[in-house]
Amino acid sequence: MTDRPLYNHTALARLQSASLRLQTHIRRQTFSPDMQKTLRRFSSWEVAELILGLNQSTFRGRLAAQPDLPGGEVEPDGRQRWFSLEEINELRRRLKVGRRSLMPQRPPGRALRTAIANFKGGAGKSTVALHLAHAAALDGYRVLCIDFDPQATLSHAMGLTDVAEDYTVWGIIARDLIHETDRMNAGPTGAASGTALPRRTIPASIRDLGLDTLRTADFIKPTAWPTIDLIPSCANAAFVEFASAQYRHLNPDWTFFAAVARYLAQIPDDAYDLVFFDCPPAIGYQSMNAVFAADMLWIPSGPGYWEYDSTTSFIGQLSEALGDLAAGYGGAEEEVPTGGVTLPKTYLDIRFLMTRFEPGNDLHRAMLEAYGKVFGSHLCTHPVEMTRAVDQSGRFLSSIYETDYRDMTRETWRRARDTFDRAYTEFLGTALAAWPKLSAPSPRGHEPQETEDAQAQGL
Ligand SMILES: Nc1ncnc2c1ncn2[C@@H]1O[C@H](COP(=O)(O)OP(=O)(O)OP(=O)(O)O)[C@@H](O)[C@H]1O
Ligand SMILES: [Mg+2]
Repeated sequence: MTDRPLYNHTALARLQSASLRLQTHIRRQTFSPDMQKTLRRFSSWEVAELILGLNQSTFRGRLAAQPDLPGGEVEPDGRQRWFSLEEINELRRRLKVGRRSLMPQRPPGRALRTAIANFKGGAGKSTVALHLAHAAALDGYRVLCIDFDPQATLSHAMGLTDVAEDYTVWGIIARDLIHETDRMNAGPTGAASGTALPRRTIPASIRDLGLDTLRTADFIKPTAWPTIDLIPSCANAAFVEFASAQYRHLNPDWTFFAAVARYLAQIPDDAYDLVFFDCPPAIGYQSMNAVFAADMLWIPSGPGYWEYDSTTSFIGQLSEALGDLAAGYGGAEEEVPTGGVTLPKTYLDIRFLMTRFEPGNDLHRAMLEAYGKVFGSHLCTHPVEMTRAVDQSGRFLSSIYETDYRDMTRETWRRARDTFDRAYTEFLGTALAAWPKLSAPSPRGHEPQETEDAQAQGL
C-alpha cells in the first residue's frame, strides 16, 4: 500500500495564500487600486422622457423660461445637455406640470423594506436588487440597500470593494448580541412567570471588538449614487453563520433573527423611502434576519425546470423556518423588542418574478404559464428578460440605468431598460398598495387563497 499524502487545514491555508497572491497580482494588473465607481450624467432626452415623464419640448421650454434651474452640462457640439442625479432631483423638487408635483408618492411613516430572496443560487437576486434600487433612485426615492450576502455582489456592483467586516450585517448581529444581553441582564426579565432569567456573559473576545460602541450610522456607507446608501458585505463576513451559532449558545434567549429589524428601528423613519435587502443563496442567520425584517418578499426565479424545483423548495423551507420562529418565540414581541415586527411574521405582499426570460423560448413560455397557474396574482405580469446589456465586463457590475446608451445599439439598451422598467413599475404598484398598511394596526397572518386557476386545475 502506497502512502498517500494527507491534507489538513494548514494545507488548505497554504493553497489559499497562494491563491490570494495571484488575486492581488491580477487586481494590480487589471485596475488601479484607487479606481472608484462614479455615476454618469443623464441626457436631456433621458431626463425628460424616461425620468421626469415630460415631453422633451416642454422640458426645454421650462429650462429656457427659468434660467435659475439647473441646466446640466452642454455637450461640445452643443446639442444635448447632460444632468447629474443631484440636478435631476433639484429639477424634480422645483418643477410642476400643471399643478402636478414631480415628487414621488411617499406615504408617512417608515421606509418600506423589500427582501429579494431565494435560497437558489444564481436566480438573479442581486441583479434585480441593483436594478430596483437604481430605478427607484431615478424615480426620486431615497434608497438604503443591505447586502446580506458575503459574496458581496451588490456591494461590488455599488462600488464598495474595500469593506471591513465590522461594518457588515455580521457587525450588526454581533453588536445586537451585546446590546440585547446587557438589556436582558439589567432588566427584570421573566416578570410574568416570576422567574428571573440567568445572567449571561459575553466573553472578552467578542466584547473587546468594540462593536457595541458603533453608532447606527457607522454601518451605512454612501455609494456613487447620491440618493443610495448601502450597508455592505465582504467575504470575511462569511463566518457570520459560524459565529452566530456560537452567539446563540452564549445567550440562548437572544432573538438572533430580529437583530437587523432592531437595528433598522433605530434609523429615523424619514431617512429613507425604500429599503432593499439582497439575500444570500442559503438559509441561515443572515437570510433569516433579512426575511424577518422585510415587509415584502420578492422572489426571483430563472425559467428552467430545476429552478422551479428549487424555488418550490425555497418557499417550503422558508415556511418551515418562519413557522419554527412563530412556535418558538410566538408573542415574544410583548416581552422582547423585535424592532416592531410581529410574530408570527407576516408580509404585506409576496411576489414571484421570473428572470432571464427569453420570449422566443418555448420552455420559458411554458414555465411562465405554469408559474402563473400556481402562483396566480403573486406572479409578476412581466418577467425580466435575458439581456446582454447587463454588463459584467468592466471593473464593476453595472445596471442598465448606469450604462450610457451610446455604448451599445440604442435598440439593445432600450429593450433592456424596458424590461427592468416594467419590473420596477410593477414593484412600485405593490409597494404603494402595501405601504399604508405599515402604519395600520398590525396585520395578522392568513392562509393564502388558492388561485382560481390552481383550483380549476385541481392542484
Ligand atoms: N436579466 C438578465 N439578463 C442577463 N443576465 C442576467 C440577468 N439576470 C441575471 N443575469 C446574470 O445571471 C447571473 C446570476 O445573477 P445574480 O448574481 O443576480 O444572481 P443571484 O441570485 O444574486 O446569485 P447568488 O445566489 O450567487 O447571489 C449573473 O451572471 C448575472 O449577470
Ligand atoms: Mg446575489
